[in-house]
Amino acid sequence: MQDRDVAECWEANADAWTRHVRAGFDIYRDALNTPAFLAMLPRVSGLSGLDIGCGEGANTRQIARLGAIMQGIDVAPTFVRHARTAEAAEPLGIVYQTADGTNLPFEENGFDFATAFMSLMDIPDQAKVLREAHRVVRRGGFLQFSILHPCFVPAYRKVLRDGDGKTRAVEVGGYFDRIDGRVDTWWFSTLSADAREKDAPFRIPRFHRTLSEWVKMICEAGWVIEQFAEPCADAELAEREPVVADTRVVPISLIIRARKPT
Ligand SMILES: C[S@@+](CC[C@H](N)C(=O)[O-])C[C@H]1O[C@@H](n2cnc3c(N)ncnc32)[C@H](O)[C@@H]1O
Repeated sequence: MQDRDVAECWEANADAWTRHVRAGFDIYRDALNTPAFLAMLPRVSGLSGLDIGCGEGANTRQIARLGAIMQGIDVAPTFVRHARTAEAAEPLGIVYQTADGTNLPFEENGFDFATAFMSLMDIPDQAKVLREAHRVVRRGGFLQFSILHPCFVPAYRKVLRDGDGKTRAVEVGGYFDRIDGRVDTWWFSTLSADAREKDAPFRIPRFHRTLSEWVKMICEAGWVIEQFAEPCADAELAEREPVVADTRVVPISLIIRARKPT
């Protein structure tokens, strides 16, 4: 699958995706992944940051609210348009533009840090994005990003439940299969039947890499890995939001922070 086809898929997803996430259907993001990401984020107040694959900008806004001076880029113009509308409604000083993470329209060393929330695994040439992020972040700056967990969301994944619906285990396979643009179709699992009638499922091109491939790409881009986190719902969250209870058995996402050496 070509980069252009991937961009077209995301552009086609962008309107419904924005409506659904703003209506609260991305429970993994809002209840688990973003809080874990922010808990791991170093202090960013007063720092300049770039959010790569910002989507409609919810997570870019979260970082801006911590005092960072943010720019956000996304390959899908419709996401950028929705992000700008949110910026107009609640000005946080964020500048958004349509751009490809593999070809960032910024000079070298211009940012103190970069983030990417659940976007790098959606990009065919992840090594190139990691090199581009390294180029635009200053020495001593960092990149923090989250991805679908390579070990627990590989080519094949099936949640195995007890009779009462409780997650018992997660069956995975095809870990070493190089998935390059397989299009998965899904809605957020809590989406109502009415909404499913109205909006076609998202079409998400997948680019699975093994954990060792990710580590190799990160290190070859010049980053030094600093920290990993694997978000896990606590008992109270799993009770309140049963959809994320499977993360008490195995994680669904991996957060990585890496630093550009001084
Ligand atoms: C799963 S969404 C995550 C959006 C947002 N970061 C969030 O957490 O809500 C993945 C995002 O990556 C973007 N994306 C995909 N390929 C890209 C590329 N080559 N350059 C920049 N953004 C890209 C998509 O348009 C989409 O907004």
